[in-house]
Amino acid sequence: MDKIEAMLAGDRENALHNIKIDFNNLHLVWPCWEYLQSYREAIMEYIAFRVEDFAYPKITTHRDAKGYFKRLERMRKGKAPKGLVPASAFWLVDGRNYIGSGDVRHCLNESLSRLGGHIGYSIRPAAWGRGLGTIQLAMLIEEAAKLEIPRPLITCFDDNLASIKVIEKNGGILVNKITNRVRGEKKLTRHYEM
Ligand SMILES: CC(C)(COP(=O)(O)OP(=O)(O)OC[C@H]1O[C@@H](n2cnc3c(N)ncnc32)[C@H](O)[C@@H]1OP(=O)(O)O)[C@@H](O)C(=O)NCCC(=O)NCCS
Repeated sequence: MDKIEAMLAGDRENALHNIKIDFNNLHLVWPCWEYLQSYREAIMEYIAFRVEDFAYPKITTHRDAKGYFKRLERMRKGKAPKGLVPASAFWLVDGRNYIGSGDVRHCLNESLSRLGGHIGYSIRPAAWGRGLGTIQLAMLIEEAAKLEIPRPLITCFDDNLASIKVIEKNGGILVNKITNRVRGEKKLTRHYEM
């Protein structure tokens, strides 16, 4: 049984320990062709694990991928569609695999000030629980500093224990808790300043 089949069959134990990671070669890249296949496998994992805080682009054809990369490049260069702010998207990779995604928003709008903040992130489920979320966030904070965002805002649901740990291990200071309405549900949301 391969990793994705294992996940879809609910065999999380098998699924979660089946990806080898080169910890000496972790780095952020802009989303690119080199890791696209690995990224598409990871999307299956996100779906299997019902990760909802992550917007999956639909990439089935070469054209979809080209369009996706172009959209991200425009966002990075400051040309955001109406209602969105410019943002830099990154993938955490180890030279072989896609491992996680991160977004650094160049500024906040009203909606991001409540939910979303400057930095968003995820790690593919097959790599959870090995310190990678913590490492990736540290790298994203460095990217934010390069964009002259010295104290980024990070928001996180009050029941997302893994994310709370990742933020606090990176020195996040809890500055506020507010309630947001998400998909019809009230969600207590933590605001951290990094
Ligand atoms: C949040 C997320 C990025 C964490 O990634 P990760 O690589 O598993 O994080 P780490 O391995 O660095 O774990 C950090 C800490 O959280 C703990 N942790 C991990 N999963 C946990 C869980 N489900 N419940 C409680 N604690 C958890 C780890 O044990 C570790 O604590 P420790 O160092 O004291 O042992 C990952 O779970 C994810 O992608 N979640 C879905 C998307 C998401 O929630 N993004 C954040 C939105 S604010």
